[in-house]
Amino acid sequence: MTDYTTLLVERHDAVTLVRLNRPQALNALNSQVLAELIDAFAAYDADDSQRCLVLTGSEKAFAAGADIKEMQAHGFADMYGSNFFAGWERVTDTRKPWIAAVSGFALGGGCEVAMMADYIIAGDNARFGQPEIKLGVTPGMGGSQRLAAAVGKAKAMEMCLTGRMMNAEEAEKAGLVARVVPASSLVEEALKAAAEIAAMPPLAALAAKEMVNAAFELPLAQGIRFERRLFHGLFGTEDQKEGMAAFVEKRPGKWTGK
Ligand code: CAA
Repeated sequence: MTDYTTLLVERHDAVTLVRLNRPQALNALNSQVLAELIDAFAAYDADDSQRCLVLTGSEKAFAAGADIKEMQAHGFADMYGSNFFAGWERVTDTRKPWIAAVSGFALGGGCEVAMMADYIIAGDNARFGQPEIKLGVTPGMGGSQRLAAAVGKAKAMEMCLTGRMMNAEEAEKAGLVARVVPASSLVEEALKAAAEIAAMPPLAALAAKEMVNAAFELPLAQGIRFERRLFHGLFGTEDQKEGMAAFVEKRPGKWTGK
């Protein structure tokens, strides 16, 4: 699939830029958006010429949540029977690095998708929230777990129980976002960050992503062992030989991804 109706995809050298594009619904995430994102992320992961991806929305909204109008009429049997939202695991299965560039509202599923990214760069107008409680439900795309891991119990509880939004400044202080930049230069800054990652040795980038994610899945001793094994494994790559030779010879490394 390349002709998307809810996404705009551009290539910037080794960086793929994906824009959510349902302005009439503030980029609400319906089944079509999910299907197209799964396709776009799989294409990115499979393309050796692409080394980093940026997912962004519009200036007003990264995404205002899962599509309430699509979910409204569903019952338990539909939701449980279809394992509704399980498809997002195809997005989080992406092995290569990706960044969420968030401007405006990142609410409910919007906040949850941003938190699926390897990290978030926020525009200074960004607003994060998990307001599902006001709809009689809760986060369902990982928000309670990822928000608690990112900002701790107190703020995660407060946001999930009251629906309070967090602005960009608070989100940076709390550790939800890596960096805040002026909203007007958000995409440019995110593309710059992505280009920097894209210029790194690709196998080391895959390993770094995998080991940091392990910190959220494994007990410490297992995580440290996992890290060490991946580190050992990188000594079997051409890029380790090249990277260390380049350091000693005081020149930039040239990576083969082997
Ligand atoms: N689903 C479907 N449509 C949505 C939507 C959503 N999550 N969010 C906004 N829209 C639609 C609105 O219905 C409206 O459409 P119409 O013009 O056809 O009425 C259009 O987008 C523009 O929205 P507003 O007129 O509401 O814009 P606003 O500037 O006045 O308000 C807002 C912006 C505060 C973000 C408000 O739209 C809002 O509160 N949206 C819903 C936020 C929300 O509750 N998100 C959680 C969804 S549930 C979820 O995500 C579950 C989960 O865990 C994954």
